Amino acid sequence: MGRISEQIIEQIRSTADIIEVVSGYVQLKKRGRNYFGLCPFHGEKTASFSVSPERQIYKCFGCSVGGGVINFIMEIEGMEFINAVKHLADQYSIELQIDESPGQSKDLITQLFDIHTQTARTFLENLGTEEGSKVLAHLESRGLTRDTIKKFQLGYSLKQKDALLSAFRKDGVRSDAMKQSGLFIDTKSGYMDRFRGRIMFSISNSAGKIAAFAGRVFESDDLAKYVNSPETPIYNKSKILYGLHETKQIIRTSKSVIVVEGYLDFLQLYQSGIHNIVAISGTAFTDQHALQIKRFCENVHLAYDGDSAGISAAIRAGYVLLRAGLSPLIVNIPNGLDPDDWVKRDGNIPFLEAVENSAKLLPFHFQNYKGDVTSTTGKTAFVNEVLMEIIQIKDPVSRELQGRELSEIVGVSAESIFQSLHNMLEKQKRRQNFQQNNQNLKPKLSDKKQLLENDLIRLCFAENSTIRKFLFDFVKPEWIATELSRKIYEKVYIHLPSANAPKASLIMNELKNDVHRSKLAEIVFDLEKFTPTILSAQDCVIRLEKNWINLHIQSLRDELKNAESMGKDPLSIMKNIEKLQNQKNNISHQYSTNE
Ligand code: CTP
Ligand code: MN
Repeated sequence: MGRISEQIIEQIRSTADIIEVVSGYVQLKKRGRNYFGLCPFHGEKTASFSVSPERQIYKCFGCSVGGGVINFIMEIEGMEFINAVKHLADQYSIELQIDESPGQSKDLITQLFDIHTQTARTFLENLGTEEGSKVLAHLESRGLTRDTIKKFQLGYSLKQKDALLSAFRKDGVRSDAMKQSGLFIDTKSGYMDRFRGRIMFSISNSAGKIAAFAGRVFESDDLAKYVNSPETPIYNKSKILYGLHETKQIIRTSKSVIVVEGYLDFLQLYQSGIHNIVAISGTAFTDQHALQIKRFCENVHLAYDGDSAGISAAIRAGYVLLRAGLSPLIVNIPNGLDPDDWVKRDGNIPFLEAVENSAKLLPFHFQNYKGDVTSTTGKTAFVNEVLMEIIQIKDPVSRELQGRELSEIVGVSAESIFQSLHNMLEKQKRRQNFQQNNQNLKPKLSDKKQLLENDLIRLCFAENSTIRKFLFDFVKPEWIATELSRKIYEKVYIHLPSANAPKASLIMNELKNDVHRSKLAEIVFDLEKFTPTILSAQDCVIRLEKNWINLHIQSLRDELKNAESMGKDPLSIMKNIEKLQNQKNNISHQYSTNE
């Protein structure tokens, strides 16, 4: 893939107004100079997600994400930088001139996606070989059409232990990317293919790029039914939902999604015409899965296997969804079947009826509870188990509703339920306070340093160019103690001598690391409340240098203590300490002459 020029990116950044773009996903209300809404990235009922039109950045004070307009699109659409830029360019009719110079070295991420795309193509082609023809016949006998196989890039991995490896070696893919792709395993006798003789499923991310594979056993006595890609720089299995790329728009418009456990369940349902679906890929349902879904709808039907393992997994997933502020419903699947078998046997009508008649989580949990709920102890155990889940729901209204539901189901008064809930919450709060207090004891000193460094970064955005020039001339990056601030400063630094103050949104897009970007968003969000002066800049620089010198003196003193045993000359260490002390005494001197 080519590069997009800096000017075009700048043009997109200045044309795509962040308020307008975010409004396509979040309902925003103006309050003061900023806009507020419910954060699309975590479950919340009070608006802590804010967008600054002046600075063209967003920041959530609840979950601490933040960035500029391109970051927003990357985050919400699950896109890479390039695709997010293209997406915005499309919406604002900006023409992209992509520079496709061939010799350019691609970054690791691009290489990894390329390897996966090419691998999927190879797996699909393998179905046409003699060895693969049996697999194709098997897939067709299970009711999958060639269209489905092609659309979702199913395939076959040859039995030969290095079939894929040798194909890539011929093409000369850089070995670092090959190693990190997870497609090969390191054995005593060298590298070999991870997937051999298996039915292959391509797993795409929500932007539609293949990021991983799952391989199902085929006619072999291998004990592992599935072999999956490991986590890689492009694959986070607790986040990716299988099929979401193809189904997200339909999920949005139909306002509900059906979650299934298996790739084959997904494919069978999809092919039968049910398109508002996703599958988890071989893991438990996580909070991150819930957040992915939340971007598109609220109602979630869990259609897990109709056996006892499927039922308990569905209940667990239900509580994860509830915690995220979503509405979980559970589909009753006949015992011994999974959605795949069922739809293949009876067509999609009985399945759709079951979806229509999905059970609410708490009654379903009660009905399938293993203990004896006719006895007092059994009932108490059930209530406690559910309360442990309910206390994790952040939203008090939703918590109360679940409490009421529980009281009705088990026939215990709402007062008793709320009393227990209250007790548990109190206990939890005490525990959290205790932990927090313990944490608060230590980092006082480093907190102060962090605040000072935040000041430095705010000063870098001063309108007054004298202040910026002053910082440019005097601040030494090594004075910045925290890695976080240093990374941010490195990006801002080059803009300091410019005639105009740097734009926060611009620097935000240059920071590739989420944590660094969120931190910058937090620091500069209320910039208008901060009045930079040359005096405050001097003060800041003096303190930074002093802290740095103090740190050095301290480490020299430590060295001095051990000097003799280490065979070092204590005299030279003492001289160094003295030198630093002199430097410290002269600091203020040095900067005030520069006013
Ligand atoms: N799974 C897994 N590892 C296993 C077993 C299952 O990752 N050892 C995941 C896969 O995502 C699989 C899903 O759990 O699709 C459901 O498992 P299962 O019902 O056993 O497999 P199916 O894919 O439905 O295969 P089949 O119908 O051919 O038995
Ligand atoms: Mn199955």
